[in-house]
Formats: sequence, C-alpha cells, structure tokens
Amino acid sequence: MTKDRRNRAWYGKLDKDGFIHRSWMKNQGFPDHAFDGRPIIGICNTWSELTPCNSGLRDLAEGVKRGVWEAGGFPVEFPVMSLGETQMKPTAMLFRNLLAMDVEESIRAYGIDGVVLLGGCDKTTPGQLMGAASVDLPAIVVSSGPMLNGKWQGKDIGSGTDVWKFSEAVRAGEMTLQDFMAAESGMSRSKGVCMTMGTASTMASLVEAMGMSLPTNAALPAVDARRMALAHLTGKRIVEMVEEDLKPSDILTRDAFINAIMANAAVGGSTNAVVHLLALAGRVGVDLSLDDFGLGSDIPLLVNCMPSGKYLMEDFCYAGGMPVVLKRLADNGHLRSNTTVLGGDITAYAEGAECFNDDVIKSFDNPVKPAAGLRVLRGNLAPNGAIVKPSAATDHLLEHEGVAHVFETIEDLKANIDRDDLPVTKDTILVLKGVGPKGYPGMPEVGNMPIPRKLVREGVRDMIRISDGRMSGTAFGTVILHVSPESQAGGPLGLVQTGDRIRVSAKNGTLDLLVSQEELTARREAWQPEPPHYTRGYAKLYVDSVLQAEKGADLDFLVGKDTRPVTRESH
Ligand code: FES
Repeated sequence: MTKDRRNRAWYGKLDKDGFIHRSWMKNQGFPDHAFDGRPIIGICNTWSELTPCNSGLRDLAEGVKRGVWEAGGFPVEFPVMSLGETQMKPTAMLFRNLLAMDVEESIRAYGIDGVVLLGGCDKTTPGQLMGAASVDLPAIVVSSGPMLNGKWQGKDIGSGTDVWKFSEAVRAGEMTLQDFMAAESGMSRSKGVCMTMGTASTMASLVEAMGMSLPTNAALPAVDARRMALAHLTGKRIVEMVEEDLKPSDILTRDAFINAIMANAAVGGSTNAVVHLLALAGRVGVDLSLDDFGLGSDIPLLVNCMPSGKYLMEDFCYAGGMPVVLKRLADNGHLRSNTTVLGGDITAYAEGAECFNDDVIKSFDNPVKPAAGLRVLRGNLAPNGAIVKPSAATDHLLEHEGVAHVFETIEDLKANIDRDDLPVTKDTILVLKGVGPKGYPGMPEVGNMPIPRKLVREGVRDMIRISDGRMSGTAFGTVILHVSPESQAGGPLGLVQTGDRIRVSAKNGTLDLLVSQEELTARREAWQPEPPHYTRGYAKLYVDSVLQAEKGADLDFLVGKDTRPVTRESH
C-alpha cells in the first residue's frame, strides 16, 4: 500500500491522533485492514426524501461501495445538503453555492483520497462539482438518472414541460382542473430526475461530455439495473483514479467546457447550464466567458427530446444516449480532444456508438432544428449579456420590436398577469424586474412568465419575455434570460417602463431599449433598489457576495480553489 496517501494524515499515525481517528471509525465494525493505507473513497450523497429526484441515491451508494471494496479501497458515505428543486423556497438556486461550500469543506476536512459525487436534481450536480473542483481530489460523478417516461391517458407526458402546457390549457379553459390533478401521478411514476431534457438531464449529459462520469451515465433510467452496475464500475474506477492521481483539474480543461457547450446545443440543453458551467470554470481557473457559448450557436439540435423536441429521456437512452451524440459531434469535427475519468480521450466515449432510433437522435444532415445553440444577446438593455434558447423559441419572435409591459416584482406579476384589462397584445414584450441573483434573491426560475390569461384564451402560446431571472430547463418559449447587470444591481433593466419600445435580434445578438440616453439618465437619478429581503444569515452572505449571471452567480470569495493540506488537529 502507498504510504504517502492523503488519508495517512488521519489513519496512518501511531499516536493519540491516529488512535482517535481509527478507533471511532471502528465503532461501525470496520476491520483493521480498512486503515492499512488503501485508498479511502468518500461517497458524497445528496440523497433526501425532500429531493425526490435523488431518492434512488441510497441504493446507488451501495453499488459504488461494492466497486470500491472490489478494487481494494475503503468506501465511506457522507451526506451533504440536498437541494430539492421542486420543494425549496424561495428557490433552490439560492442554495447551490451553500451546497458547494458544504461539499468542499466536507471533502477537505475528512481523511479521504477521492470522492464519488452522487447527485441528480438540478442544482445538486453543479453544486457538488464546484465544491469538489475547489479541493481537486480525484472525483467522479454518478447521477440519479431520469424517471421513466410519464404516462397519462395513453400518452407520454414530460416532467415540467407538460406541467406548463397543462397549466396554460386550464387557464384557457381547454382542460378541466380534475384532469390536471389526475396527471400528477402519471407524470412522476418512478424514482429519478425529470425525464425531459431539463436542467438535471442537461447537466448529467454535459458531465458525460466533459468526461467527468463513465459513458452512458446521463440517460440510463434511474430504475434500470444497468445504473446500479454503472455505480459499481464507478466505485472500481475511482480507486484506480486515486492510484493514478487523476484529478478534476486534469479533466476540466477549457476544451472540456467547449465540448460541454457543443453538447448542450446538440441535446437542446437547459439555459441553466450557462450559469453552472461559468461557475465551475471559475473554480478550476478556466477562462470561460458568456461569449464562448456563442461557439455552439451553429450546432444543430440533434436530440429530439422535450422541451425542444417530442421524446423523453427513456427514449434517448434506448436510442443510444450521449455516446451517439458525442460520436455525431466528433464525426463533424466538433469534439475536442480531452482527458476523461477513464484516463483516455473523450473520443473513446464515442467510439463504436450506434444509434438505434434516428428520429430520437437525429443526424447533422437531418437535425430537429439547424443552428439551435444558445444565443448571447447584448445591447443597452443588457450591457453584460443575456441569453435566449432558439431551439425552444418561436422563430419569428427571435427578430421582433415591441412595446414593453413591465412587472416591477414577482408579486406584481402574480397579482396582475390574469387581469382581463391588462393592456397587452401578442406583440407586447413582457418584462420582469428584480429576479436576478441579488434581487429575488437567488435568481429563480420565473423568467418563463405565464402568458396573460386574456391572450391564452385568444390562443396565444408564446410572447417575448425578458428578465434577469432564469427559467426551468423543462420550459420553452421566446424567453430572454440572465439579463446582466440585473435590475437590483443597478442594471438598465431597472429603468424600463411600460410603453417603452424594445428591439430583439437573435440573428444580430442584440437587445436594445429604444429610449434616449437623456431620458435614461433622468430615470437613473430617480431609481432606488428594492429594500433587502434578508438582513441576516446565509441569504445575507449570498446577497452581499453573489456575482452576476455572466460570472456564474458564484459567491465572489468561493472562486478558485485551495488544495493545501490541512495540517492542524483539534485533539
Ligand atoms: Fe429535480 Fe427536475 S425537479 S430534476
């Protein structure tokens, strides 16, 4: 056994400190040889009954343990904060950085040599990766995996995507409330994450494209026995990664991030990938900017999954999953060479991949949509940038000039959106302020504002909506998000008034408020930020320290990493 392993500073000492570290661990029945110098592997688990998407992770942890023991390691599972996207108020995003801190400090404080990250629901994957990257011990991801396809009234229904559709149908009087409620049980009928290409499956897909998980991790359904086998294989592999000293900084290079951007375009991935990748890049010191996401603009949409297409993650798995997408990117010159958790090149994930359903995973020659990657917009309304997802938008609205109707706060929106006398038409541009990182706080997924009820009844299903917030990865529409600087930080979005004209051009990458500079200067002099919603605790720390969207909304003091050994003992 290697004697200079990290865990020896805890378990290798024949003194009072070593006694204390070993003896208390032995109260769980671990034998002497567990502490003989073999790699100790942390299993960082975000299992929680309040994060239903991650409810399968206790089982998967057992699979990882089998693999770690088999490879001669010693597995130790530990819990970290879990973030249940559908359950937390005011928004799970407020706590992504808190999870990252929990993960980072837990890994650093304990005597482990490598870590398996068990996550799934939207913020758990990026939060865990950010924390692990800042310690930079060997790390590998096992995701929850998607739920089985939703089924209701003989049809497939998709997490989130069909909630938004059904909700609009109820508001339009086209669906009964009874039917709406009945669809609940059919939508979520197994363990796992949203089975649309929402943020969870997007992040799992990008983790695979970056080489931070074993191949096929993204799409295998949560309840598929092959996911348990993948967890087992991951446990084996992390022990080898410790022997090889293969760390996140060896894998998460700039080329890995560019591969993730290309993959995000090809799968029709979530806009949330932007803030998560930017934050992760900040942890590993990779120079990634919002404009880099423009590199994916010309990539066609290949994966025909909701919300941009019609199928679901189970179909994506059976069609071949991410290895096929990576092969199509590689065959067309869009996959950069980069190291993976297997130690080889990412192209090895694509080798031999076979597509079993060309309607689910389309080809470059016959895509779901051409040039469907995210567009970055800039202009006097978003000097530091904003984004839109063309694959989920209405084409003609991507080039549009219209009159703004402004909601000053989320409460203003909720109180007034369904008023019959709301002065809006299908050409109006809805603007929502105060939902950025500092404003809400936490940059919630409210950017896909509901269509005003009077317009829903007229059959309108999409309008331009602009905010400094985010939207769910399962959502769709011509929704301009992440406007920066946000209104609460003094951005021009805070100066927009109902009746102003706004021009959007996705083709030119512009977002402009057509108001004179003199008028904007006068408005700025009269502008006041909203009083803070939180004056203590983590939320205050967050508001005081959070970076803007184009920096990934990380906390300013968490950017970067600290790989120094911990030398002090408390005994
Ligand atoms: Fe957890 Fe969608 S809400 S993955």
